[in-house]
Amino acid sequence: MISVRNITKNFGEKNVLNGLNLEIPRGETLVIMGRSGSGKSILLKIITGLIPADSGEIWFDGTEISKLKAKKMNVLRQKIGMLFQSAALFDSMTVAENVAFMLDQHTNYSKQEMRKIVDEKLELVDLEGVQDLRPAELSGGMRKRVGLARALAFNPEVILYDEPDNRT
Ligand SMILES: Nc1ncnc2c1ncn2[C@@H]1O[C@H](COP(=O)(O)OP(=O)(O)OP(=O)(O)O)[C@@H](O)[C@H]1O
Ligand SMILES: [Mg+2]
Repeated sequence: MISVRNITKNFGEKNVLNGLNLEIPRGETLVIMGRSGSGKSILLKIITGLIPADSGEIWFDGTEISKLKAKKMNVLRQKIGMLFQSAALFDSMTVAENVAFMLDQHTNYSKQEMRKIVDEKLELVDLEGVQDLRPAELSGGMRKRVGLARALAFNPEVILYDEPDNRT
């Protein structure tokens, strides 16, 4: 499902990933552990194409992602849900707008259909009735669960969790 092939990533003089290889079959749950600053979050961002690797390839379900144009990459991203380490919500938007953000950008769902998906995903993460609050009005764990609801919005085939905890 996901194949990480010989990925290298440097930031200036600092080498973060050095020839990393990883095969993750469909249906498998894999945990990556490592010291703070060792490159776990960077690896997830490279897998989702959010940042480019310096060299190597990422294959997702038979497609090499670095060669994809923006449009195809957007379609592929809908198959990969990502829970960011710091939730990465938009502070100026409500919880409902955050969860619906990608649906709003990339589908033709009506407001009503989006609201239904938002309500359903928030219920899944045990967060009901917070639709109209803003992230600043939530606890850290609640924000992380909103991030998870957003990651689930497209019913992704794969979910990448950056530092899930017992609240998510
Ligand atoms: N955008 C960036 N620009 C420069 N350096 C970066 C950038 N993002 C990450 N780094 C560096 O890459 C290294 C790996 O960072 P990363 O966030 O992947 O660590 P991590 O393993 O997720 O750590 P933690 O467990 O603390 O979350 C760190 O040394 C960090 O300073
Ligand atoms: Mg991290």
